[in-house]
Amino acid sequence: MAENQQKLIHTFGALAELGYEIAHKQNFQEMIRTSLHLLLGSLAIMRGGVARYSRFGHELNMLAMRGFGEDFPLSLSLCYEDERQFLTNGLEPIEVAQAKVLPFFQIYDTSFEKKRIDLLVPLIIRAEIVGVILLGEKANGERYSAYDKDIICAMARHIGVGIAQRNLTAELERRAEENRKLYDDLRMTYKDTVKAFATAIDCKDKYTEGHSVRVGKYSEIIARELGYDENEIEGVAVAGYLHDVGKLTVERNIINAPYRINAKESAELNKHPAVGYEILLPIHHPYTDVPLAAKYHHERLDGRGYPDGLGDKEIPYIAKIVNLADSFDAMTTDRPYKRRRPANEVVEDLQRNSGKQFAPELVTAFFRGMLKELTGETRDRRFRKLLGREYMEAEGFIPMLKDALNGMNGTSSLTLVSLD
Ligand SMILES: [Fe+2]
Repeated sequence: MAENQQKLIHTFGALAELGYEIAHKQNFQEMIRTSLHLLLGSLAIMRGGVARYSRFGHELNMLAMRGFGEDFPLSLSLCYEDERQFLTNGLEPIEVAQAKVLPFFQIYDTSFEKKRIDLLVPLIIRAEIVGVILLGEKANGERYSAYDKDIICAMARHIGVGIAQRNLTAELERRAEENRKLYDDLRMTYKDTVKAFATAIDCKDKYTEGHSVRVGKYSEIIARELGYDENEIEGVAVAGYLHDVGKLTVERNIINAPYRINAKESAELNKHPAVGYEILLPIHHPYTDVPLAAKYHHERLDGRGYPDGLGDKEIPYIAKIVNLADSFDAMTTDRPYKRRRPANEVVEDLQRNSGKQFAPELVTAFFRGMLKELTGETRDRRFRKLLGREYMEAEGFIPMLKDALNGMNGTSSLTLVSLD
């Protein structure tokens, strides 16, 4: 009785330890190794191994072994009949000597005999094979008792659950990775679609070729200077690319008129922000506010813009960014009735209209981005690429830009730029 009690305490101790191992070990391999050692140790079993089942290869891959030597196969194949029998058997130890009719035991007969493997426990968890445990003879040479088998079963269940959990985690990780890839693909498709749309918009206007694409890029520069995160920067760029999408419905001869258009034509053209909003609204954009940027990119801080004559506080911020990028591009590119203006004039204009049309901190951010590139503070060549090298490197432009920036700083919280 005392001996049985001792045994029981010992077994409970081993089970508790095994449960702890499975719940707390981060390293799966190590968890399996420790579990095997606990199992072998608690019943004084000479040799043993734990294998994980791979349903793709229909094979058992050894995860941990003790006393099997180098020549024991690391991978054991199962045929359909073996799997069926294991599933029917459930999580009960199978006496190898009694199971020789199964193909599995015939194929590996020599290996099992050589290592004196007495028991095989199929690890069946929720009606699925997750692995097996192989056990050699007991150190005292005795046969496994019913009591031993009960203990083995309890411990095998723990190990099986550990493997099943690991399989589940691996499957979840695989799905998460798959989802991430799908999301990336989707995002790429969205970006490509946005760019294709921008090109389509720009195709319609032969005089302002590449306008939408440039506005997208200038908007991106401003957002970056404002310290937005990558996601927000992308959203602002998209808003820039698509701001004139409403022009797709405006007659080509109005857009391409080689003269200043009349009031009626102007009224027609001025519908494009509202139309753009209607086009973009039903689309599920990964970023908010893209439709609002289209709708309000012709609004001004002083309320003299269109379509709604909104004031500073009412204009969505993204629309203010796109408005600045849009105006900058209009001033720095040739139009049918107007040639591009020199860089210093454009800077003066932006400065003068700061607080009237443009948000001062956006103008400051834009100037800073420009200056960083001109002084080599960044390696980017964004402005040079968009405007041409000569345009950007006109004599006296850098000091002029610094002056403008310092002048702007009276209305902004950004630090002064050194004038040397
Ligand atoms: Fe526009």
